[in-house]
Amino acid sequence: MRTLNDIRSTFLDYFAKHGHEVVPSSPLVPRNDPTLMFVNSGMVQFKNLFTGVEHRDYKRATTAQKCVRAGGKHNDLDNVGYTARHHTFFEMLGNFSFGDYFKADAIPFAWDLVTKELGIDKSRLLTTVFHTDDEAFEIWRKVGVPEDRIIRIATDDNFWQMGPTGPCGPCTEIFYDHGEQYWGGPPGSPEEDGDRFVEIWNLVFMQYEQFEDGTRKELAAQSIDTGMGIERVAALLQGTNDNYATDLMRSLIEASADVSSTDPDGPGKTHHRVIADHLRSTSFLIADGVMPSNDGRGYVLRRIMRRAMRHAHLLGARDPMMHKLVPALVRQMGAAYPELGRAQPLIEETLRLEETRFKQTLDRGLKLLDEELERLPESASFPGETAFKLYDTYGFPLDLTQDALRERDRQVDIDGFDSAMAEQRAKARAAWAGSGEAADLAVWFDIAEEHGATDFLGYDTETAEGQILALVRDGAEVSALAEGETGWAILNQSPFYGEAGGQVGDTGWMRRLDNEDDWCEVRDTKRMGDGKLLAHQVTVRRGTFKPGEAVQMEVDHARRTSIRANHSATHLLHEALRRALGSHVAQRGSLNAPDRLRFDFSHGKALSLDELKQIEAEVNDYIRQNAPVETRIMTPDDARGLGAQALFGEKYGDEVRVVSMGTQSNSGKGAGGNTYSIELCGGTHVRRTGDIGVFVTLGDSASSAGVRRIEALTGAEAFRYLSEQDHRLAETALELKAQAADVPARVKALLDERKALANEVAQLRRELAMAGGAGQGGGGAAREIGGVKFAAQVLSGVSGKDLPPLIDEHKARLGSGAVLLIADTGGKAAVAAGVTSDLVGKVSAVDLVKAAVPELGGKGGGGRPDMAQGGGASAQNAEAAIRAAEAVLEG
Ligand code: ALA
Repeated sequence: MRTLNDIRSTFLDYFAKHGHEVVPSSPLVPRNDPTLMFVNSGMVQFKNLFTGVEHRDYKRATTAQKCVRAGGKHNDLDNVGYTARHHTFFEMLGNFSFGDYFKADAIPFAWDLVTKELGIDKSRLLTTVFHTDDEAFEIWRKVGVPEDRIIRIATDDNFWQMGPTGPCGPCTEIFYDHGEQYWGGPPGSPEEDGDRFVEIWNLVFMQYEQFEDGTRKELAAQSIDTGMGIERVAALLQGTNDNYATDLMRSLIEASADVSSTDPDGPGKTHHRVIADHLRSTSFLIADGVMPSNDGRGYVLRRIMRRAMRHAHLLGARDPMMHKLVPALVRQMGAAYPELGRAQPLIEETLRLEETRFKQTLDRGLKLLDEELERLPESASFPGETAFKLYDTYGFPLDLTQDALRERDRQVDIDGFDSAMAEQRAKARAAWAGSGEAADLAVWFDIAEEHGATDFLGYDTETAEGQILALVRDGAEVSALAEGETGWAILNQSPFYGEAGGQVGDTGWMRRLDNEDDWCEVRDTKRMGDGKLLAHQVTVRRGTFKPGEAVQMEVDHARRTSIRANHSATHLLHEALRRALGSHVAQRGSLNAPDRLRFDFSHGKALSLDELKQIEAEVNDYIRQNAPVETRIMTPDDARGLGAQALFGEKYGDEVRVVSMGTQSNSGKGAGGNTYSIELCGGTHVRRTGDIGVFVTLGDSASSAGVRRIEALTGAEAFRYLSEQDHRLAETALELKAQAADVPARVKALLDERKALANEVAQLRRELAMAGGAGQGGGGAAREIGGVKFAAQVLSGVSGKDLPPLIDEHKARLGSGAVLLIADTGGKAAVAAGVTSDLVGKVSAVDLVKAAVPELGGKGGGGRPDMAQGGGASAQNAEAAIRAAEAVLEG
């Protein structure tokens, strides 16, 4: 069997042998050619050689060129899958002469290759020429084609143009007759569109250049441009007229059947064909740098991808499957097109992401479509407004809706679709106008209208490639951002989360794909223009960035991880608060930053420490439960039916995202089953609650009247906080311990100090007493009684044991005499008497005391003749006691 790879090399080898340069296929995106969406034939990369603008060191070339025909002049998308030969992607084999050989050589080369190298049966071949081209007719006759098999065609079927402008000329085509078993007639006949006669090779005689104003100019040099569809030739050489039955397409179809566990030739046959074809175009487009988006080339790619994905869905594939087919394609075509293998990871990832995202709305979109169809009267066209809703809300490109309706023989009301689209734009512009906010500047509106909404990829990935669509600086679009400049970048898609719903915008980096040394810092991400655009605030650190360039984007992973944990913890906190405090608790505001979370909620009074502890413990219980966090898209009504917490006063569209987490351990099942937390939320979340790590509140405070605020930490921040607290406690404990060791010494010092002070006080009192100041009654002055100097005094605030030293002092002062001191000790009395030594024998201190004691209500008393002491119950009769002592002296 002649495989497709074999045919390709046979062709290229043949022309190489005849002096042709084998030139690699150009990328599918034409360089510097805004008139053309994709390369649609082999001659595109040589356009300037035909017009004479460019010269190379070869005048003959041959290529196997990748082509995409979807969008623009040559658009085959709608038919793909339903016919034997339509493709969005195909390979065109060609030989080219740039002012070198012309018709006389081009025709024999072709005939020779077809009949000899490829060995195609001459009797099955016929050719066409432009009706006035006698020269070509003659050459065909000469190489051996019977005249009745050379058909003159007057239509532009035999005049080839690349596009609305560019090189063009009359052409001649070779047809293959697949035989009577197929319906169809020769070219030019009314049945020419049948499957019997198939064009396999087109030879264009480049003679003119077509201009925009409709005029045509003769080219300086006559050239040759040919195109052979390799799939068609492979089909006939493999004994079929169905391109999808050839070896290469068949292997892709089998891969599709394999991955979807279906029969390649069963009821899903058409789906497999669509998938096989679209796999090729999408993979090659991605490999050449096109990314799915909502405008331009990216949108054509998205339309093809989504069309394939709908057919995968129709096969019953539950999970994304397109990306699983890429290895089969690389096996088949990677050798001829090495870029395919190089881009394999990117292709797989892009397909997987797109299909994951699209799957979220595909089911519901198809359901809406079916419901609408049921309502419609027979043969009525499908309402444009619904088609627009499918487009706007469910991401159905118009041609996807048309494709789905094709099976039911219905048309879309295109005018209705267009006017629904126009109406929505006008509404959006009116709603944005005049609010004066930066996010509503006209520039964002213009960008959104021109390029469509930015696709947010950040639920599924933190890195992605994208294309810069516009740059904004100081409120206006600019053509570049130079090194050091700060501005806003809008891309077709982005993994960066734009600030919304309390969650802060992502930060990270962007690098140019073609030069990784050029990079800019993404400092913030916001939603602009009615939330349609993700605007990245960037500062260029190296190089210059311009619209049209492709970049690799990377979100700061560590920061996003913390934000995610805080956002999920906020949901758990919200639910724990509701359960602890009551269902009046409603969210009034929140902040999910990388370093902390803040949650404001309606509640009239401060939380008690017990309530806070209970809430904190409950949140941590659900963290440890490590339950998966699930997100689903549904209608707002369905979400409310589940008991989802929605923000009061928030406007929700037809579709909402519902985030749920946790399984209630022991409470009754509500509308949401036993799911713990269910909220409407567009934010990014952890995969499982355990990823939050740990949750710790920093306390509750008043935010405004009737609104409380809880601030809290999770994960690493919470751990750091707890660990710091722990260290602080440990330090305080150490300090206390060190202080405790000092206590006995300090107590002794205090006691010593106290003793010293007490002595000092006693001394002062004595001094006061001696000075007579503290006395009561008899002063202290001495009198002569019975020839003896006698001093007597009543003292208060002095104790009995203070008396003897006072007696000594009095004795010293008197020189010769007797002394009596009575101390009023507050409730009791003490008495002491003293006699100087010279008088001992004449007067006895013991007698003096014994005389005084009874007056004080006491008994006895004693001591020595020079010093005696006694005591009594009260100093009340101190004067009488003194008189009793005086009486002793008087004798
Ligand atoms: N450029 C010509 C074609 O595409 C050969 O048919």
